[in-house]
Amino acid sequence: METFEAIKKRVSVREYFDKQISDAELEKVLKAGMQAPIGRGKYYDMHITVIQNKDFLKKIDNLTDRHIFYQTPTLIIVSARDDGHGLDKENSACVMENMILEATDLGLGTVYLNLVIGLIKENKDVLKELNLEDGFVPIAALGIGYSAKEVEPKVHEIEVSYIK
Ligand SMILES: Cc1cc2nc3c(=O)[nH]c(=O)nc-3n(C[C@H](O)[C@H](O)[C@H](O)COP(=O)(O)O)c2cc1C
Repeated sequence: METFEAIKKRVSVREYFDKQISDAELEKVLKAGMQAPIGRGKYYDMHITVIQNKDFLKKIDNLTDRHIFYQTPTLIIVSARDDGHGLDKENSACVMENMILEATDLGLGTVYLNLVIGLIKENKDVLKELNLEDGFVPIAALGIGYSAKEVEPKVHEIEVSYIK
């Protein structure tokens, strides 16, 4: 798919089939995330956790009575270690968008999940199970799976001003 086609096709999907994505698809998505630009080239300050274990997903789902990750079969958490330059959010967002576009290109559904991060950070037990190295903090979460519903992408606009 041409890059702009994937960009235009990307949409947040909030209904998924109970079917796992393939390892080959996951691998491509992860590779795309790893190719993201990272401030000061500190790839070693980033970490990606792939959660596909049904019991652990259920545990996260049970942190609230709302299905905040829409029962996606794969949940990816991007974590970062802040080296004092405060780029952890920016870096994580770059990794996220690369993964989202690759997943879209593969025909998968995705949803960026901010609410999941807040809940995971609040729950020491779940946070511990992520088994992150010291200093790493979960920053962003991505749900990926096979869309159970066709969602028409919206055309979004952001105001632009020009200084020519
Ligand atoms: C940083 C960030 C956090 C988000 N958190 C959530 C979330 O917790 N739950 C959710 O359903 N969607 C979440 N979204 C998706 C946005 O609501 C969505 O991208 C936006 O409404 C535009 O719709 P579209 O993605 O379908 O084009 C998040 C998006 C971003 C970029």
